Formats: sequence, C-alpha cells, structure tokens
Amino acid sequence: MLKALNEQVNKEMYSAYLYLSMSAHCTNVGLNGFANWFMVQYQEETFHAMKIYNYINEQGEKVVLQAIEKPPSDFGTPLEMFQATLKHEQFITKSIHDLVTLALEEKDYATQIFLQWFITEQIEEESNDNEIISKLKLIGDNTSSLFVLDKELSVRVFTPPAVE
Ligand code: FEO
Repeated sequence: MLKALNEQVNKEMYSAYLYLSMSAHCTNVGLNGFANWFMVQYQEETFHAMKIYNYINEQGEKVVLQAIEKPPSDFGTPLEMFQATLKHEQFITKSIHDLVTLALEEKDYATQIFLQWFITEQIEEESNDNEIISKLKLIGDNTSSLFVLDKELSVRVFTPPAVE
C-alpha cells in the first residue's frame, strides 16, 4: 500500500506538471483565461500530492519521491487540450480506484477511508472537463465565442479545501 501511495504522489505531481505546461502553452497563444484555469489546476494537483504526502507521514511511513516525467509542450486546439485533460483525469480516476481495491485487499481501512475524498474529487474533475469540452464543441471555429469562454475561465481561483 505504501509503495502504491508513493506512486500516487508521483502521478499527482506529474498531473501538476502537465497542467503547468498546458498553462504555459495557453499563455503563449494568447488565451490568458485558459492559462489561468490550468494554473489553478496545477495548484489543485499540488494540493492532491501534498494530501497523500501528509497522510503517509501521519501513518509514520516514509515518503519516497521519484523523478517527474517530462510533460508534452504542444497541445493543439483548446478542444484537443481539454480532451487530453479528460483522458488524463480518467487515468487518475482508475489509479485511485485501484488504490481503493488494494486497500480493501490489504484490509487497510484507514487508507480506504482516506481515499474516499479522492473518489469524490475525481467525479468533480471529470465533470468540469466534460462541461468545458461541451462548450468548446458548441463554440467550434467561432473566435469571439472562444474569447467569451476565455474570460469566463479567467475568474477561476484556487481555494484550498477545508481540512477535514
Ligand atoms: Fe489529482 Fe486531477 O487528479
């Protein structure tokens, strides 16, 4: 279980890195609202990594950090970027579900309860991505509508979840 949790820290750190790279890409193409949205996502992923990091410490175990893989730097259109985001989040959701399965197999009920928060969080993350994908499909090639969405995404702020 400890090894799998340490691997999840790495996956969350990679997620943060991936979204930071997407943010850089958006800034580079002049979509500052999209860049803000991905910057907030970067902060959320760092929070996820730290939540597991703190849990491992609280259990008296050792966090062992691994190298973070290099993320891509080109992401295509905003629609393609959000489709890639959803695909990545589906991968993370499966990873969290696999952790829950392992916790149950090992009768590690504390970790199973700890992971409940992540299950709920993944539902929200996939839902956010799906909502933006739907909007981007409606927007199509309409540049002025894209700028309206860009403005909408510019107001997103990172709010650290309350500590339970
Ligand atoms: Fe930490 Fe987006 O899952």
